[in-house]
Amino acid sequence: MDLNVVILAAGRGKRMNSQTPKVLHQVLGRPMLRYAIDAVKPLRPRKTVVVIGNGADLVKKNMAGEDHISFVVQERLLGTGHALAIAKKEFKSGRVLVLNGDCPLIASGTLKMLSARHNRNRNALSFLSFTDDSISGYGRIFRDERGRVAGIVEDKHATPDERKKFKELNGGVYLLEEEVLGYLEKIRKNKSSGEYYLTDIVKMAAGSGKKVEAYTCPAEEIRGVNDREELFGVSEILKRRITRKWMQKGVTFIDPQTSFVGPLVHIGKDTIVYPNTYLEGRTRIGKNCVIYPGSRIYESVLGDGIVIKDNTVIEESRIGDGSAIGPFAHLRPRSIIGRSVKIGNFVETKKTFISDGTKASHLTYLGDAVIGKNVNIGAGTITCNYDGKNKFSTVIESDVFIGSDSQLVAPVKVGKGAYVAAGATVTRDVPSGDLAISRARQQNLKGWAKKRREESRVKS
Ligand code: UD1
Ligand code: CA
Repeated sequence: MDLNVVILAAGRGKRMNSQTPKVLHQVLGRPMLRYAIDAVKPLRPRKTVVVIGNGADLVKKNMAGEDHISFVVQERLLGTGHALAIAKKEFKSGRVLVLNGDCPLIASGTLKMLSARHNRNRNALSFLSFTDDSISGYGRIFRDERGRVAGIVEDKHATPDERKKFKELNGGVYLLEEEVLGYLEKIRKNKSSGEYYLTDIVKMAAGSGKKVEAYTCPAEEIRGVNDREELFGVSEILKRRITRKWMQKGVTFIDPQTSFVGPLVHIGKDTIVYPNTYLEGRTRIGKNCVIYPGSRIYESVLGDGIVIKDNTVIEESRIGDGSAIGPFAHLRPRSIIGRSVKIGNFVETKKTFISDGTKASHLTYLGDAVIGKNVNIGAGTITCNYDGKNKFSTVIESDVFIGSDSQLVAPVKVGKGAYVAAGATVTRDVPSGDLAISRARQQNLKGWAKKRREESRVKS
C-alpha cells in the first residue's frame, strides 16, 4: 500500500516567544523537525510533504540534504485541518501518515506499530493516544458508552466534567485511509479559535460508521514542544536515552547528567566521558579514549586511545590513535592530526596536517601548515600565514626542531632534520639539515649593573 507522509510544521510557535520558527529550535544540536523526518524514513513513504509557513524559507534552508521531501507553504495559518488539506494536493492517491513537526521523540517503531495495527484491523483512521495527568493543552479523546472513539476535543474547549471523564490524550499522529480524507473539506472553522481542526475528522469518520481506533503509546514519545520548558524537557529525555544507550554499549560517563551527546554521535567501548562535555554533529570517538571536563567536540573523527584534556575545543577535525590534545587546546576546522601526536596547552591549529609523533606542547599557532613526523614545535611558535590579504602555507618536514618563540613567515619551508634556533623569524626556506638562526648577536656589558646602581645613588 502506498504511503504518503505529511509533517505539519507551519505553526508560529507563539509560546516559544522566539524569532526562530519553532521547528528549527534544536534538541541536542539538531533542529526538531529533523527528528520527525528521520522517524518516518524506515517506513519508506512514497512521498513526504512538510507543511511550512512561519519562516518558510529559513526552514527549507535548514533542511538542506533532505532531497526526498517536498515542501508546501501554508500562507495563512488556519489550523491543522487546513494544513493537511493543502498538503493533500501534493499526492494523488494512497493513505496518509500525519505527524506534527514539534514532536521530536516519536520512534519509528511506534509508527510501525500504528501501521501494523491499522492494517490488521482494517481501520479507516487510526491514531496514537497516551495518558499523562501532569500535562495540559492536548486534545482529549471522547468515547461513547461502548468505549468506541467518538471524537477529539481540545483541552481548552472541554468542560471540567469532560476533563475529569476523558483522560486519554491525542498524540497528534494519524494514519488516514483515502476514504476519510474527503472529510477534510467538510471541517468547519472552530468558532472560538477561528481554526480548522484536523481532529474534527475523527468525529466525522466515527459518526458515519467508519472504523476508528486509538492506540496507546509511551507518553514520552509524543510529548510536543510548545514552549521553552517543554523544549528542555524533551532534550533531557533524549539526552538520557542517548547516554543510557552508550553506557549499555560500554562507555563510562562520570556524570551523564552533564554530558551532551548528539543523536548522530558514535562512541567506542571503554571510552570515559567526564562531566560538562559536548559531543556534537556526526562526531565519532574511538575505543579507550578519555574526554576530560569542559571539552566540546563537533563534527570530528577521533581514533582509539586518545586523551582530550580539560577545556579543549575540536571542530571538524581528525585525530589519529594515541594522540593527546589539551588542556586548553583549540583544533579549528580541517586540522588533521596523526598518531601519537601531542598538542598541549594553549595551542591552536587550523587547516593543518600534523604527522605521527610530532609535538606542539605549549602556546602555539599552526595555521595552513603541513608538518612531518617527529617534529618538535617549541613553545610560542607561530606560523604567520596571513599578510592581511592572502593566506600562505608553511611546510615543516620530518624530524625538524623549531626552537621556542619562532615565527615562520609563510610561504616558507623548513627542510628535513633542520633546526630553527629559538627566537628566529624565518622568512626564507631552511635547507634540510641546516640551522636557521636570525637574531641580533648578544653582547654582555661587563659590570654594567653595578655602575648603574652607583649612578642612581649619587643622584638621590
Ligand atoms: C494538536 C492537536 C491536539 C493534540 C496535539 C498533539 C489539533 C487541533 N490539535 O494540538 O489534539 O493533542 O496536537 O501534539 O490538531 N500547524 C500547521 N498549520 C497550522 C497550525 C498548526 O502546520 O495552521 C502545525 C504546527 O506547526 C505543529 C502542529 O501543526 O507542528 C500542531 O499544531 P499545534 O498548534 O502545536 O497544535 P496543538 O495545540 O499542540
Ligand atoms: Ca503542539
